[in-house]
Order: sequence, then structure tokens, then C-alpha cells
Amino acid sequence: MKVYITRRIPESGIKLLREAGHEVAVSDKDGVLTKQELVGALKEHNPDAVIPLLTDTIDAEVFDSAPQAKVFASYSVGFNHINLDDAKSRGVIITNTPGVLTDTVAEYAVSMICAMTKRIVEGDQFTKKGEYKGWAPMLLLGADLKGKTLGVLGAGRIGSRVSEIMSKGFDMNIVYYDIKENEFLNTQVNAEFRSTPEDVLKEADVVTVHVPLLDSTRHLLNADRLAMMKPSAYLVNTSRGPVIDEQALVDVLKSNKIKGAALDVYEDEPNLAPGLAELDNVILTPHIASATQETREKMSEMAAKNVIAVLSGGEPINKVE
Ligand code: DGY
Repeated sequence: MKVYITRRIPESGIKLLREAGHEVAVSDKDGVLTKQELVGALKEHNPDAVIPLLTDTIDAEVFDSAPQAKVFASYSVGFNHINLDDAKSRGVIITNTPGVLTDTVAEYAVSMICAMTKRIVEGDQFTKKGEYKGWAPMLLLGADLKGKTLGVLGAGRIGSRVSEIMSKGFDMNIVYYDIKENEFLNTQVNAEFRSTPEDVLKEADVVTVHVPLLDSTRHLLNADRLAMMKPSAYLVNTSRGPVIDEQALVDVLKSNKIKGAALDVYEDEPNLAPGLAELDNVILTPHIASATQETREKMSEMAAKNVIAVLSGGEPINKVE
């Protein structure tokens, strides 16, 4: 059967699809397909399955341009780019790639926490610019983590793993908010549940965000909630940009109402809120928290396995409902 992939992904998954006897077509555009290009490509290829990316908006128009497609197997764990109601009403199965990127994204969030509190990026820029004139007692002073409080918003797989690393590896105290308590965090990580995000924001020295993007989490960190953070606190976001009101964040960073932020995701990718890139107290990276060779190969394989399962009449491994 025919599988269409909307952009080049690691070969490992494509190999699995071909070994399973499927014909694979991959967009040859070096970039995100526009809606019109995506619809045109699907009409041209008429695939039985599609592997889209988180940068593709998948809605009724897209489903209707691939009427034969039984499954859209996203090459991502996030699925906020897919209209699940439109899929459901057409009987199209949606899958994602959970689990394989948990450790990678957690390691990245931890790296951002360290880079920010230890001022590693500023130190790098300072040194490369030739400004380092010798050791100095007050040069680029950062903050310790041991004994401080990490506030975790979203205690799913990634939030739990970050909590575990920061508790066991860095001796941080963990407080977390989610819609329900996490048994593993309570019993194995000595983390404390808080019933509101406000409680976490008021208490934490570092806040790390790991909620999925849903209607209920859009602008979870709005101006009012950002104002609740300690002036000495840091904020890290490796989940989805729209969870934070980015312009409100620029305002609190500009006026030093919080100490700093590290962002891998943005409200309107790839655009940045005006003023964000000019700030010194922020680290910005281009949505690469899951971007390791190993993990991207596993994501490719997982998307392929979901397609193979559905096209052979079975149940996909990672159905999104
Ligand atoms: C995902 O898979 O949703 C991640 O954001 C990719 O980095």
C-alpha cells in the first residue's frame, strides 16, 4: 500500500515500511509544506497512510484530500496540530510517538536548567567575544540547585523523568501540579503534589513546563500567573509554546520580575515575540529537545510501526483518542 511522508525523516522507519511491502513517497521539499502543497501532494499520491509532522496542520481539508488514508501516524508525541474530531468523524486513526523521546527531552530540560542557572551560554558568548580578561570573583555569578525547589507543571512521562533526575541527581525538592497526583513521584521521588499551578509558581526556584497543549493549558502561564513567580526564579519550557503567553513573558523578563527563562518552543513558531531575542536573561533554542540521532530514528520507526499495524488490519501501538 502507499504511504506518504510530508518531509524527510530518518531512514530507519522508511526501511521498515518498505520491508513490509509498502510503497513510500516522501516530500522532496526542504521545508514545511504549505496547506495547499500538502493537499495537492495527498491528492496526487492518494496514500493509504500518512506520516505528518508537528509542523503540518491536519484538519478536515487535509483528511478529505486523502480519502483512502486509514491512519495519520504523526512523527511526534504532541498531537495538538491534528484535529481529532475531524479524524474521528471520518474514521481516521491518529497515532503519535510517546515514550521514545521521554529521556531525550528530559535530559534537554535538565540541560536547560543547568545552562541557565550556571550562565553557560552567556559565558560562552563572553569568552568567544574576547571579553574574558582573567578570573574574577564576581564574574557571571549564577545560582545553585541543591536544596532549591523545582516546580514541575505537568507530571506525565517527561515531567516525571525531569523530577527524578533533579531530585536524585541534584538534591532538589520537587513540587508538581497536574490534574491528578502521580504515584511514582509521590512515592519514589519524594515529590509533593500541589493542587493548583499557582501554588507551584509561588514556591518554585525553577519552574519546568511539561503539559501537552490543550484548550485548558493554552496560556496556562499568563501575565497573572507569571507575576506569581519569585523574582529569583527561572522558567524552562520544552513542551509547547502557546502554553506560555510569550509577550507577557517578554515583559516580566524585561522588567526583571523573574531571573531568567530558557525556551525551546514558541507561541508562533518559528516566529518569536517582539523583544524576546534581544533579552540577555533568556536562552532560546529551535525546538530541538528531542533532536538526537537515536531518538529521531526511534520516532521514525515508531511512526512506521503504527502505519504497518493499521495497514495490516491490526491495532496501532500508540493510538491517540
Ligand atoms: C514532539 O514530538 O511533540 C516534540 O515536540 C518533538 O520535538
